[in-house]
Amino acid sequence: MHPAYLGQEVGAMDAKGGALASGLEGVVVAETVLSKVDGEAGELVLRGCSADAIAGARSFEEVAWLLWTGELSAEARAPLGEARVRAFEQLDLEDRALRFDSGMDALRALIARAVVADGASELERAVALTAHVAVAASAWQRVRAGGALVAPDPALSHAADVLRMVRGSAPSEAEVRALDRYLVTVIDHGMNASTFAARVVASTGSDDVSAIVAGIGALKGPLHGGAPGPVLDMIDAVGEPARARAWLESELAAGRRIMGMGHRVYRVRDPRAAVLEAGIEELERAGVAKGRLALARAIETSAESLLAERRPDRPLRANVEFYTAVLLDALGLDRAAFTPTFAIGRVAGWCAHVAEQRRAARLIRPASRYVGP
Ligand code: COA
Repeated sequence: MHPAYLGQEVGAMDAKGGALASGLEGVVVAETVLSKVDGEAGELVLRGCSADAIAGARSFEEVAWLLWTGELSAEARAPLGEARVRAFEQLDLEDRALRFDSGMDALRALIARAVVADGASELERAVALTAHVAVAASAWQRVRAGGALVAPDPALSHAADVLRMVRGSAPSEAEVRALDRYLVTVIDHGMNASTFAARVVASTGSDDVSAIVAGIGALKGPLHGGAPGPVLDMIDAVGEPARARAWLESELAAGRRIMGMGHRVYRVRDPRAAVLEAGIEELERAGVAKGRLALARAIETSAESLLAERRPDRPLRANVEFYTAVLLDALGLDRAAFTPTFAIGRVAGWCAHVAEQRRAARLIRPASRYVGP
């Protein structure tokens, strides 16, 4: 039986006998060499490498290169640095988008204006767009904080330069390692909603900028990449471990979801949560973190048991966003910048998928069941 038959819409057939696959759950829409998400075992593989093993050990540019070319190599560092410089030169300092309240609205507008050289190769386009997202997200944060824009330093690693462009001063090694760990952890994740959106656009034969803008639009939503800001709001609102259960109960009673909990694919704890927790522990040892880890863990434990009582049939455990909030906060990033920072990592995955989709050369065009008059 097709997995799409297993959900709540079992038996809902259209006139030609097609099953209604609500939310496309379990529907396989592409073959990919880029990442494997095992929702039962709680495992994420990035082009042959276990994410657990490479996050924290390899830089963002090494893993981006792995996705783009199949080789785990630091070769992307120099071209990415040069591309950040070119992306910065393209920024219009008077651009209204730099002053938008929402970082994702700013990113969507700024990337829509990105110019990728005519005749650029697939790899050059991936490098250019990955640089553009880092520069645009950093510039937006800088303007928001009231600071003067900081030009990229092509000699630095991508993570080090992002932190420098955001803050205006050099980050510590521990901070760069933590951001690298984060960017690698979120770089790709199977057929998630934003990757699918980017692939749909690429499948029509449209250009890479349009595909990445579609990815940004999908990532913005709170059910996808928009969750970590609200997770930090939750941690602040709970304040102390003893208040966790009562606070969570009132959220659920009000019909709201607990942000950072639950996943479409994982039926166990999201393995990326543990990878990020290890990064926060490292930051704590380096004296950087603000001590929110203990409270976050207490809230997670309460949320997990509360959700299990309400839905014993449906495991709802912490997802990547739960500890993203704690890690990015420890790095001194504003909560409004969490989703744009997610995009800084995920854009490398989108570019790899866009290229893969072009090779598949088949329009993605599903069907709908007419229920109107
Ligand atoms: N808090 C409370 N209940 C939740 C929940 C959460 N975080 N996540 C799922 N549920 C409940 C749903 O209300 C639903 O219950 P119902 O059948 O009584 O209506 C049930 O679990 C199944 O949810 P469903 O919406 O079918 O799951 P999904 O696979 O479509 O959604 C998410 C997955 C991630 C969108 C969902 O778990 C969620 O909204 N989580 C919070 C947002 C978040 O952290 N997003 C980041 C994802 S990495």
